[in-house]
Amino acid sequence: GKGAYPHYMLKEIDEQPAVMRRLLDEYLDADGQLNISPELLQAMNAADRLYIVAAGTSYHAGLIGKTLFESLVQKPVEVHVASEFGYHMPLLSEKPFFIFLTQSGETADSRQVLVQTNALHYPSLTITNSQGSTLSREADYTLLLHAGPEIAVASTKAYTAQIAVELFLAVALGRHNQLVLAEQFDVHHELGLVATGMEALLSEKEQIETLTTDYLQTTRNAFYIGRGEDYALSLEAALKLKEISYIQAEGFAAGELKHGTIALIEAGTPVIAFLVDEKTIAHTRGNLQEVTARGAQALTIVSERFAQEGDQVILPSVNPLLTPLLGVIPGQLIAYYASLHRGYDVDQPRNLAKSVTVE
Ligand code: F6R
Repeated sequence: GKGAYPHYMLKEIDEQPAVMRRLLDEYLDADGQLNISPELLQAMNAADRLYIVAAGTSYHAGLIGKTLFESLVQKPVEVHVASEFGYHMPLLSEKPFFIFLTQSGETADSRQVLVQTNALHYPSLTITNSQGSTLSREADYTLLLHAGPEIAVASTKAYTAQIAVELFLAVALGRHNQLVLAEQFDVHHELGLVATGMEALLSEKEQIETLTTDYLQTTRNAFYIGRGEDYALSLEAALKLKEISYIQAEGFAAGELKHGTIALIEAGTPVIAFLVDEKTIAHTRGNLQEVTARGAQALTIVSERFAQEGDQVILPSVNPLLTPLLGVIPGQLIAYYASLHRGYDVDQPRNLAKSVTVE
């Protein structure tokens, strides 16, 4: 049940620090070694390219996974929307390895791809919250999210759990190949900092609620912008916002706005920027100036060490690879409060089912 919580979504948002710690218990031995099967690591190691296939929020977690695998394993990764891949299979590398990300393990679009890759005898892993689910049974390997039941239709803790499991896998595979970055990555310490940082953010919900009132109370549309990982984060924050508040929200690559979409900016249009990815912060701030010059109301979500006077939401500093785990929290909370304030059914948005079992 949801206990003292008014909604499952809020409960599940709040559970995220505990899920991070539970995952550390599940995946780390007493001596700090990651317990991921050597057969799985060998199968992935034999591949020349990883293909991540997923839908919706799980696809967005896959976009973050690409950065983790490419940084820690130095192996190329492609991330695909399942419903596209199924009918327009890209030209594959010689030795592909498939990773299916699916909270439910039952998403028909993703399963349809797995049926095809199985027919081609390609090795596969399903990362899922549901042991014994269809995609878990039909893939060669399974890693569990251990996030506990996710009841709210809008996915929250499954997203952060998926990123954490991708991290474990990337670090284990990198260590398997004696890559320095992976060998030096102290998973326990870094993810522990993330859990603490999440708690700090979650203890200041009132601030996010007030910002949501100030920026989103009456608007019909909104933009999230960012570059790199902040772009991936923008896609997820925008999906959360639109699916439960029905505000038309777009996640946009900050530098791409000026190539046409900036025409939509009017006086008062909320533009929320993620300023987390060090390499691109200065450029995204420049894009914010372009939209505020056209009347947009800018709201910033920024890592502590890059914060400036006037920034609104400050994220505690963590390992740069793990910043999306913190950045998503204000995005989830903004969506929650926007839906709540408009009087909608937060947990059961219109037109949506928790698990999409048709193609
Ligand atoms: C969004 C959401 C959906 C799911 C998508 C995939 O909040 O919940 O976008 O992420 O339908 O579902 P799974 O992960 O079960 O395959």
